[in-house]
Amino acid sequence: MPELSAEAKGQWRPMSSADLPRVMAIAGQVHPAFPEDGEIFAERLRLYAGGCLVCRAGSDIGGYVISHPWRALDPPALNSRLGELPGDPETYYLHDLALLPQLRATGAASLAVSQALARAGSEKLATVSLVAVNGSAGFWRRHGFRAIPLDAIGADSTLARKLRGYSKAAAFMVRQL
Ligand SMILES: CC(C)(COP(=O)(O)OP(=O)(O)OC[C@H]1O[C@@H](n2cnc3c(N)ncnc32)[C@H](O)[C@@H]1OP(=O)(O)O)[C@@H](O)C(=O)NCCC(=O)NCCS
Repeated sequence: MPELSAEAKGQWRPMSSADLPRVMAIAGQVHPAFPEDGEIFAERLRLYAGGCLVCRAGSDIGGYVISHPWRALDPPALNSRLGELPGDPETYYLHDLALLPQLRATGAASLAVSQALARAGSEKLATVSLVAVNGSAGFWRRHGFRAIPLDAIGADSTLARKLRGYSKAAAFMVRQL
């Protein structure tokens, strides 16, 4: 993995509620096939602000991460509220990492992954999990995530149905810490 520049290291900062309109605009641009309502972003920020970061792009922002402790093998359905975080979480769930094109290949994505892994460690969680979409599975594999094969999940399982709710090509991926 390329070494991160000092500039890249300073790119991420905590998300605030004032960032939400811009975060939603970025989501709309990066994930047009996976629309989520504003309340979905706002609720995750309320429930677990420590897992919500934005990436600076000059005086603007150009990317975000949303993540939180969660139950294993139970990714939230697209555009659904969490209600509350589990009292005994089993994994650190990376709901989304998205960068506008100008911030890609800068090291910003790798830094966001490192920060999520560190957060999972500080929560004493043994895995990080996510639903890979948009052909991003290769990126996640480079960061040590492995897809759970569909035959291990069971094609009719709740997990498989939720994955299909994202897209036919969505993969559930897990990284052990
Ligand atoms: C997924 C995503 C966050 C990955 O970010 P990225 O910046 O594109 O990914 P990388 O950090 O691997 O960078 C891409 C390339 O830049 C290179 N690179 C990374 N850091 C670098 C650095 N500091 N200097 C130079 N090159 C660098 C990588 O080696 C990689 O090259 P390769 O594709 O030839 O292997 C980004 O593509 C994105 O936002 N996609 C749309 C949203 C999405 O699908 N998110 C995932 C949802 S599950």
